[in-house]
Amino acid sequence: MGGEILIISDKHITRMDENQELLSHEETRRVLHELRVYQTELEVQNVELRMAQVHLDTARARYFDLYDLAPVGYCTLSKGLVVEANLTAATLLGATRSAFSRQPPFSRFILEEDQCIYYRSIEQLSTAGEQQACELRMVREDKTSFWVRLEIVATQDADGKRVRRVVFSDITERKNADEKIHALSQSLMQAQEKERYLISCELHDSIAQNLSALKINNDLIYNDIPMIFPDLREKLTASSRLILQTIVAVRSLAYDLRLPGLEEFGLLKALEIYCEEASEKGNVKFDFQSSGMFAIDLDRNMEIHIYRLIQEGMNNILKHAESDSATILLLGSSPNIILHIRDNGRGFDVKAQELLSAATKRMGIRGMQERVNMIHGSMAIKSQPMKGTQISIKIPL
Ligand SMILES: Nc1ncnc2c1ncn2[C@@H]1O[C@H](COP(=O)(O)OP(=O)(O)OP(=O)(O)O)[C@@H](O)[C@H]1O
Ligand SMILES: [Mg+2]
Repeated sequence: MGGEILIISDKHITRMDENQELLSHEETRRVLHELRVYQTELEVQNVELRMAQVHLDTARARYFDLYDLAPVGYCTLSKGLVVEANLTAATLLGATRSAFSRQPPFSRFILEEDQCIYYRSIEQLSTAGEQQACELRMVREDKTSFWVRLEIVATQDADGKRVRRVVFSDITERKNADEKIHALSQSLMQAQEKERYLISCELHDSIAQNLSALKINNDLIYNDIPMIFPDLREKLTASSRLILQTIVAVRSLAYDLRLPGLEEFGLLKALEIYCEEASEKGNVKFDFQSSGMFAIDLDRNMEIHIYRLIQEGMNNILKHAESDSATILLLGSSPNIILHIRDNGRGFDVKAQELLSAATKRMGIRGMQERVNMIHGSMAIKSQPMKGTQISIKIPL
């Protein structure tokens, strides 16, 4: 059987039969030259391949560092299923990487009670199209839960398929700290209410009583001494008037400090009476309206918060609004309570006031905002010069 010699050059492969005549000297030299050229090219390609390999290794290490070891969990979802997850996501969820090869639904890792938060964000993502963020609890493989901040964005993968990318980070420590601050604020508020009650008792039982005694004594002097100098009588009468004004102010302060009527009548009736009395005392007619509140069972702390918010809103109307009427609207609209405090007075520049309040030591609106934060609510103030003010507060139940 005759063998074959393969001669490979850059342009062609030549098969040469052994039986063929030997190559001429010239042809041999040409083939050898071509072979050398080919060898050199192969060596160059080899070096390039090795360099490409090194680059690939570096890129892979970088990808591992950036993607897998990122300080946040990172998942790619297709139709709600996890098609890719980085190492941090697996670690945070106490799962192995292989657990994701079965493409589990992402919702499986979200605590049942918090799934509505996740689906709401997905819905908003579909309608608004913008990146969505929320805070919820996820569950590890061992069924323990932890708090995360979750960000979701809709995008396309390398093949143009619509996917969602989810980034999440553990915020349990912050949440625990928030809860501690919240509990502390609640106890602080309770202590403050107790303190206010004691001050109110002291004002009413001691200071107001002493002032009354002082007024009686004062009245006696100019009533019982007939031959009193007219200018002295005038001064004593003026003093009596001043003492009376002070008694009224002290009594009213003591009354306000106590959350009038709350213990005896409950929140709604107490607020109704409070508004009626404020309307009688001042120049503003306060109209209190409520709806849907009977179905809501509020604890005492929440009642105190609502009462104090309304008190400060009303005090501001009396002090600053120059309004002849105002409305307090309390709506039970599950899962929230909505409170509107509205006047038709002179209004004010809310932004400018915010900047000023720290310097001028004005505490009312800042205190309201802090109170609202304490109960995880939100507050918005709309006000325009000469068009009145509306404070809207949303309190989650
Ligand atoms: N209903 C309102 N109408 C008009 N201006 C208002 C009204 N509520 C607040 N303001 C303006 O906002 C400012 C800040 O109110 P805030 O309650 O913080 O402080 P304050 O009432 O002046 O003092 P404090 O409440 O500390 O005794 C007021 O000084 C006033 O200029
Ligand atoms: Mg005020």
